[in-house]
Amino acid sequence: MDLYEYQAKELFARHGITVPPGQVAATPQEARAIATELKVPVVIKAQVKTGGRGKAGGVRLAPGPSAAEDEARRILGMDIKGHTAHSVLVEQATGGFEEYYAAYLVDRANRTLLAMVSSEGGMDIEEVAATKPEALARIPIDATSGVDLETARLLAARAGLPEDVQDAVAETLVRLWEVLVEEDALLVEVNPLACTSDGRVLALDGKITLDGNAAFRHDHAAFADGSDDGGLEARARAKHLNYVKLAGQVGVIGNGAGLVMSTLDVVAYAGERFDGVRPANFLDIGGGASAQVMADGLEIILFDPDVRAVLVNVFGGITACDAVANGIVKALEVLGDARCPIVVRLDGNNAEAGREILSDAAHPMVRVVTTMDGAAELVAELAAA
Ligand SMILES: Nc1ncnc2c1ncn2[C@@H]1O[C@H](COP(=O)(O)OP(=O)(O)OP(=O)(O)O)[C@@H](O)[C@H]1O
Ligand SMILES: [Mg+2]
Repeated sequence: MDLYEYQAKELFARHGITVPPGQVAATPQEARAIATELKVPVVIKAQVKTGGRGKAGGVRLAPGPSAAEDEARRILGMDIKGHTAHSVLVEQATGGFEEYYAAYLVDRANRTLLAMVSSEGGMDIEEVAATKPEALARIPIDATSGVDLETARLLAARAGLPEDVQDAVAETLVRLWEVLVEEDALLVEVNPLACTSDGRVLALDGKITLDGNAAFRHDHAAFADGSDDGGLEARARAKHLNYVKLAGQVGVIGNGAGLVMSTLDVVAYAGERFDGVRPANFLDIGGGASAQVMADGLEIILFDPDVRAVLVNVFGGITACDAVANGIVKALEVLGDARCPIVVRLDGNNAEAGREILSDAAHPMVRVVTTMDGAAELVAELAAA
């Protein structure tokens, strides 16, 4: 789960990293009230889970409360790379600072955790890596030993930070490591990390990606707002379904994680020939694909406005294909109707009987295909139509 900047800053503050005082506002009036309370020039910042807000006009300085209200009015509702700003962070404007960069992340390619610190803050780190690699220190971190003051000082020095700020930055780097470990994050990033002329180190921006697999250990639930997936994952969780929202147009249901993963692959592959359509989700309904589970699964998938065709791909085992076919027929009765075509591929135990049940039911939206590749081809074609 990605956090908003204001949520990331909340976690930073819990671990002793200094952030500018500020609060979130959902209306221009609230922004004005917060600015009035802060009694200083403020920065109004669009809260969206994407980068490049500054360039898009989503970060603005406001010298006083009425300017804060105006800027908030302008930013609220703004679209930034497909993300709507539903709230703004109103925070104290810091003055007189140099901008640096600091991050820890899981480096999957190298099977390690990675620290990245740079003297070039405020800009895209990819750009720094490409144009000024000497200003970016990248040091693998051993998960068991972590980042102590010594390692942190080395990071600050290697990144070419001025000597007089290295110690203060190192302290913040140790705390940032604490955030990664104690909050079970996959990524923590501060850009810019500001060092003020009076010797303070502040996180002026923050990104955190939390590891959902560790959610049970934390009180992070309050951070979830369903904005990433239109609330679909939360709905699915409530029905105990193993569902992950993806960005495509083909709804996918299968039994068994491996089968569903390969279904995603064949759909993406077939989609290359049909307008580049892609899978809209991962959904594994597991072994006992009862009518109710099938109905719950179809309901979630058809609720996703992006879905334009559905592929049900089942390999009958202990739960045989005729039971699954009955499940699909009953599910469609429960749901009343399907708003888009459903392609079904059944194989394995009692596949023939299953296909017969579906052809007898003759549901106008259901198409039966015997092979997985054929089913993927048809569903991609239907989704692109
Ligand atoms: N509280 C603040 N006080 C003073 N300047 C700020 C403050 N917050 C942000 N800024 C300035 O605005 C710039 C952009 O802010 P920020 O990094 O939060 O947005 P961004 O980089 O455009 O967004 P993103 O990181 O999402 O791409 C910063 O580099 C910094 O110079
Ligand atoms: Mg930034």
